[in-house]
Amino acid sequence: MSLFDASPAHYDRFMGRYSVRLAPLLVEAAGVEGGMRVLDVGCGPGGLTSVLVDRLAAERVAAVDPAPQFVEECRARNPGADVRLGGAEDLPWGDDEFDATLSCLVIAHVEDAEAMTREMARVTRPGGTVASCMWDFDEGGMRMLNTFWTAIRAVDPSYERRENRAGTSRGQIAELLAGAGVRVDVDDELVVTVDYEGFDDFWDPFTFGVGPSGNALQSLGEADRAVVREACRAALSDGPFSLEARAWFARGTVPG
Ligand SMILES: C[S@@+](CC[C@H](N)C(=O)[O-])C[C@H]1O[C@@H](n2cnc3c(N)ncnc32)[C@H](O)[C@@H]1O
Repeated sequence: MSLFDASPAHYDRFMGRYSVRLAPLLVEAAGVEGGMRVLDVGCGPGGLTSVLVDRLAAERVAAVDPAPQFVEECRARNPGADVRLGGAEDLPWGDDEFDATLSCLVIAHVEDAEAMTREMARVTRPGGTVASCMWDFDEGGMRMLNTFWTAIRAVDPSYERRENRAGTSRGQIAELLAGAGVRVDVDDELVVTVDYEGFDDFWDPFTFGVGPSGNALQSLGEADRAVVREACRAALSDGPFSLEARAWFARGTVPG
């Protein structure tokens, strides 16, 4: 079972509600402009792809993801865009094809983040832009996930600390870019806020099994799941609330 075999609808309720807010900030911070040809690596159901299509026109946008149901959904949402099934570590395009290559919330989930960054640079023309963003797990800046992982570690401290994953600490994405031979231009952060109607609106999406946190929850017995749920409830306000989420962001220029 893959960490991302969830339906697009479940993904949207869990993480898509964040990526629709984050993607426009990423596109702006990456300096995407009309006339460019741009690739979205790890597109999921297409949150970032749709922002690119709106800005550039579908024939200027390409996207790739290894999850077939996301590729299908991204194609349906973005007719005319070149959406392919594939992995970031071996991108199915030739050298220098894009003016900019972007990834949104992907770098922590790939097997080999160095290979992913090298591949993003390879398919980008000299002088073009490579940019990625990933949630801040290290400093707890992604409140939704930090609330969950804090609660689940109270049940079982051995749960993997997400902050060990690539791109989740300050400066890591810039280091990966530099390691791939990309000249780092910006090492910064992007912040979004998501509104919740109440606790159920926060909790129910975790039960859909999306991504590492949803999978971790599904691996627990019913009693432990209830403990995690109540620990999350205690950490949040009653009634409607909003949660801030910080993503680390870096952008660089391919030399040559
Ligand atoms: C948190 S989602 C982000 C999706 C989308 N970019 C967004 O912002 O909504 C992580 C995505 O990474 C994809 N992914 C996992 N392993 C990957 C790999 N090796 N190469 C490319 N994408 C990968 C997953 O299928 C999933 O769509």
